This record gives sequence, C-alpha cells and structure tokens, in this order.
Amino acid sequence: MKAAILLIISLFTTVVYAQQNVNYDESKVPVYTLPKLLEGSKGEKISTTEQWEKQRRPELLELFTSQVYGRTPTGKIDVTYETMVENPNAMGGKATGKQVKFTFSNGKKKIEALLLIYIPNNITGKVPVFIGYNFKGNHSTTSDITVLYSPTLQLIKGPDHHDRERGTQKSRWNYDKIIDRGYAVATMCYHDIFPDSPELKEYSILSLFPGYGPEVTVPDEWQAIGAWAWGSSRIVDFLETEEKIDGDKIAIMGHSRQGKAALWAGAQDERFKIVISNNSGCGGAALFRRKFGETIAVINKNFPHWFCNNFLQYNDRDEELPTDQHQLIALMAPRKVYVASAENDLWADPRGEFLSAYHAGKVYQLYGLKAIDSDEMPKIHQPIMEDIGYHIRAGEHDVMDYDWECYLNFADKHFRN
Ligand code: GCU
Repeated sequence: MKAAILLIISLFTTVVYAQQNVNYDESKVPVYTLPKLLEGSKGEKISTTEQWEKQRRPELLELFTSQVYGRTPTGKIDVTYETMVENPNAMGGKATGKQVKFTFSNGKKKIEALLLIYIPNNITGKVPVFIGYNFKGNHSTTSDITVLYSPTLQLIKGPDHHDRERGTQKSRWNYDKIIDRGYAVATMCYHDIFPDSPELKEYSILSLFPGYGPEVTVPDEWQAIGAWAWGSSRIVDFLETEEKIDGDKIAIMGHSRQGKAALWAGAQDERFKIVISNNSGCGGAALFRRKFGETIAVINKNFPHWFCNNFLQYNDRDEELPTDQHQLIALMAPRKVYVASAENDLWADPRGEFLSAYHAGKVYQLYGLKAIDSDEMPKIHQPIMEDIGYHIRAGEHDVMDYDWECYLNFADKHFRN
C-alpha cells in the first residue's frame, strides 16, 4: 500500500515537472552574453590575481550572496561533539568508523546532527578526506549495522518509511573504494541541518540564529542551500580536531541539490581544497542563461525554500541575473574544482554544466593554472583532469562508481604530489 502511494507521489511529481515549459532542444537555447569575470563592476580590467582577490572576487561573492543564495550569518552558534560509537574494526577491519553527534545550541534551543566517518586503518599519519551530505540518513549509505539512524529523517519521511531501511543508497557511497585508495570519508544527512521542506524550517539550523522568524523578512535572507553550505563548514571545524585527518586536504563532494550547496560552501570557505559538483544543474554548475532544462522560475516554484527572496525577481528573466555560474566556479580558484554531468540528466543541462567549468578557466589562467582548453564537450567517459576537472558519464542523474573513480583520481593528482 505504502509503495503504491509513493509511486503515485513520484509519478505526480514527474507529471508536474513535465507540464512546465522546459526546453530540451539545443537549437532553442537563446543567444546569450555571459557576465564578465575579469571586469570589475565599474568596467575596470582585472588582470592580476591581486585585483581578482581584492576586488573582483569579493564583488562576485557579494552578488551571489545578495541575489542567489542569501547571506550567511557571521555569528557563531555553540556546538558540542559527542562520540556515540567508535568501531576500530569497521569494514572488515580496514577502517575505523566513528559516529559523532553535533549539538548546536543558542542557549534556548538545540539541534542535533549525526556525522559518520570512516578512516583507513593501514595508513600511518594523516589522511585526506571527502566530505558530503547524504539524502536518506547515514544508515542508508552502508550495511554496517552499527550505523545509527540520522535524527531528522523521520520528520521528513515518517517513522516507518522505506527510506529507514539500511543501505538503500549504498551505491552512491563506495566506501570500500574510498578507503582502499587511502582517503577518509565523512557524511551527514542533509535533513539534520535543514529538513528539506518549506514547512520544516523551524527545525533547521536557521532557527538558532538571532532574528529568526518563520517568514522571510529580508530579501537576502539565507535559506536551505545557505544552511547546507554552512553545515559543511561545521563538519570541517570538527574534522580539523580529528588527529588522523589532514585539514589541508579536504574535498567536498555534493550531488544534485547538494552539488549546488557544495559549490556555495566552496565559494565561501577556502578550507575546501577540492570542490566537486556532481550533476548539480540549475543553481549549481549549469549556466542559467542557457535556459535548458530546469530554469530559475521552475526551481523557485518547486523549491521555494532553497534560495533567497531576491532570486525570485529573475523568474523568467534568467538573463537579467547579474551573475552566472561560471563566476561561482571561478570563486574556487586557485583551489581545485570538478564538475560532473550525466548523459541522460538533461534536467540538469550537462552542456551548461560543462560550459561554466570551461568559462571559469580565465581566472585559473590568471593564476597560471591549467583550465579546460576547449569549449568542445569531451566524449562520454573521457575525463578532463586539469586544475579544473570535468567528466560526463553514461546514465542517469546519480552518483556512481565511475564518478567516485574520477574524483579519487583527481584528488590523487592534486593531494598526493
Ligand atoms: C530536483 C531539482 C534539482 C535538484 C534535484 C536533486 O530535480 O529540480 O534542482 O538538483 O532535484 O537534488 O536531486
């Protein structure tokens, strides 16, 4: 019965999306001019890394803050960490598994989040780490029966929803491969930071900050993507206290809506040394101005709690946004950034994802780094691994072993020499 209801809900969602006026025809992509990367707001030429860092980068960061993702508060929220489970013999003995409860508090109210970490056992010294949110609870990423259920999932799904089953998202988290390659991995359920529904905002981290109210009152007020990005930085704060983790080698990997949040996290927090966006699409790596697949109007309608209110003014006026996503990707420079697409994931506009990685190259070149040298998309399974990386793989919107293989190769290239 439950399965039938779920099927009806998912068919309904697909129909709603399909009814929207979405373009999948490359010949109908409008002619567009991208906002300039290397020109200041008053038309000044930006030709040195110093001008980029002192002038242009802050200008762009401010535009993304005020027009797209909202302003991350600068105030701190108290956090305590409690190790709930430590298993030195996880994954058949090759890793140490740790589960740490974060308790965020403003003195009146608390929010709990649960981090799961696996650290390889056979390496002496510190190890690099991949961090990333999961969608369905830490228990969904593994069959390890010691892994606890993430606290907030049941707010979203109800206590006996099938997503409570262990291992349902295992295919997205190839822990064996990651540990065998000598990396640690840390994951948290994204609902712990902002349960992904406009109705559940009062359970989100936003509610701990001064001035919080259920209604948005300021047009650049932060929302869910801002909160998820903030939460990734809190994971970094914790990992910096972990003896075995190399705090200079932190990669963030986000899929889809979490690919959007990973890019926003990487733009704001330079402790992320590799930023990976997997199939992140509209509001992630894809260029808005192509209006291919999901557009600003569509995403704002379906996910009113993701972006700040100022972003609403660009509904059906994508070309009037003063920024575009190649500028977001360029904010990672000179750190490394990787964009990945899937061939059948047209909703996310693979070509638009590729082109923003390509156009971000100008800033990398300013640093003397290697960007993507052609605006021809590479063929399926022909990854580009320069200081900016890109691949398109066969298949659907997902995180697959092939994606991890590429991310590990990219991390080896940049973290291991
Ligand atoms: C929806 C949404 C996308 C998002 C995706 C996901 O398809 O429209 O913008 O990236 O969900 O997070 O899986």
